[in-house]
Amino acid sequence: MVDIEQINPRNQAALRAWWEVGHAATAYRPGKPWPVWEQSRVALPADNPERGITLIGAIDGREMVGAGLLTRTLRDNLHSAMAFAYTRPDRVREGIGRRLVEELEVVAAGDGRTTVQSEAYLPPGGSGVPEAFAAAMGYDVASRESIKELTLGDYLARREALAAEAPVPDGYRVITYDTVCPEEHLESFGRLLGMLMTEVPLGELDLEDSEWGPERIRDAEQRQVAIGRHVQTAMALAPDGSVAGVSDVRVDDSDPTYGQVGITLVDPVHRGRRLGLALKVATHDLAVAAYPELVSVDTSNAEVNTWMNAVNDALGYRTIETLLELQKKL
Ligand SMILES: CC(C)(COP(=O)(O)OP(=O)(O)OC[C@H]1O[C@@H](n2cnc3c(N)ncnc32)[C@H](O)[C@@H]1OP(=O)(O)O)[C@@H](O)C(=O)NCCC(=O)NCCS
Repeated sequence: MVDIEQINPRNQAALRAWWEVGHAATAYRPGKPWPVWEQSRVALPADNPERGITLIGAIDGREMVGAGLLTRTLRDNLHSAMAFAYTRPDRVREGIGRRLVEELEVVAAGDGRTTVQSEAYLPPGGSGVPEAFAAAMGYDVASRESIKELTLGDYLARREALAAEAPVPDGYRVITYDTVCPEEHLESFGRLLGMLMTEVPLGELDLEDSEWGPERIRDAEQRQVAIGRHVQTAMALAPDGSVAGVSDVRVDDSDPTYGQVGITLVDPVHRGRRLGLALKVATHDLAVAAYPELVSVDTSNAEVNTWMNAVNDALGYRTIETLLELQKKL
């Protein structure tokens, strides 16, 4: 008999068993589909007033055979939650995934959430089990994205030509920093962050913008510092000193071989000057300089986001997976 139980992320033995299930269930995927243990051990139990998480496990006797995760934002988008289910590969097709998702939906509904989102990863342009599973669970495809990976060799081979192609435009400046935004740019950065949800192509995903005051940004930065995550950031400043654009590459202390692009956003007023490419070259240079062990960086963006795709292709990113953003209204 398989029981579904909540897992306390502060119980390290239970968290480890939960992590092992997710690790095994995602091992078939290319790239870095699952965080290293050290990162999960530190990040999952960390206090975060922005985000609530619920972990559940499918337990058979003394063994964990399925793992589920529900995350929900606590300051904005209070109508939505994200659900993820993982079944140990030797126990698929027994109904465990279905029970995990049903339980996560009960938790979401109990918290007043009416939209549940999820993600399915497939071979590039192909189809697969997660898609069939999502359809069986009543989830619609809200957006198609590409997961892309850049190997350091590919970047270094292109770097000089790219930098020549995307000089910082006249009157603009690009500054870089590790995680903590310089005080004088904080307010203007918050204004740019407030546009994120409107400006990033989200397909049919039901998500709204949110206000980012200085205190909220500072708190978020300190949470990254506390879990050993370095948000290596490049910021473009317009001639009037306001923040025109931003991009970052994140690297965890627990795995300095691997980076992930966080957000990239250029204010619509300042587009058309190749700032996106200039910012990305700056963050990738920063990551290369800060982490001699770095091997690869990955990113994901909507297939309809032609401008971001062109920038990423120029940097040397190659598509390794298709990501379906899924959504179900409860
Ligand atoms: C996707 C996953 C969670 C499914 O887990 P599972 O325990 O095998 O799922 P269930 O047995 O509850 O299957 C539920 C339904 O999904 C569909 N489904 C699941 N696997 C399928 C497969 N291989 N082919 C076709 N349909 C499938 C079926 O409709 C199935 O119902 P049925 O068995 O009555 O026909 C599991 O394969 C997994 O962990 N994959 C890797 C992680 C992942 O992609 N998670 C999903 C996104 S978060």
